[in-house]
Amino acid sequence: MSSRKVLILYYSGSGNTKKIAKAIAKAMKSSAISVTVEDTGKFDISSLPNYDSIVLGSPTYFSNVAWQVKKVIDESIVHYGGDKLKGKVAGIFTSAGTSRDGNGKMNTGQTYVSSLCLSIR
Ligand SMILES: Cc1cc2nc3c(=O)[nH]c(=O)nc-3n(C[C@H](O)[C@H](O)[C@H](O)COP(=O)(O)O)c2cc1C
Repeated sequence: MSSRKVLILYYSGSGNTKKIAKAIAKAMKSSAISVTVEDTGKFDISSLPNYDSIVLGSPTYFSNVAWQVKKVIDESIVHYGGDKLKGKVAGIFTSAGTSRDGNGKMNTGQTYVSSLCLSIR
């Protein structure tokens, strides 16, 4: 049986989101899963449909997703028409500076989720 392919795609300005990305990859390690961890800056958007599951990670910047991650989400429009992302499993995570900024994290999550729901529908 071929292993399930998981992409963990992140942007990290000062390294915190990168640390989380690596921790998630470590936790997922199993013979049934192949995990690829990629920085948004080096990511080739044409490879997105190759993955069964897509996990996006962004720092919370001014209560929102960092533009580097939003850019990748927007670029995924190239796969939209052909339903190439249909049925994929998606996940999100964020790193924020303060535990008080619940609204910010919620907003970051909502931005992710609404974008993902549209492309992975
Ligand atoms: C431009 C900027 C905006 C930020 N805005 C928020 C914010 O709205 N809420 C919050 O809790 N933290 C905010 N932070 C703190 C970051 O979310 C936090 O330091 C995060 O862990 C950074 O992740 P990184 O190391 O992967 O870049 C901000 C940091 C920067 C640089």
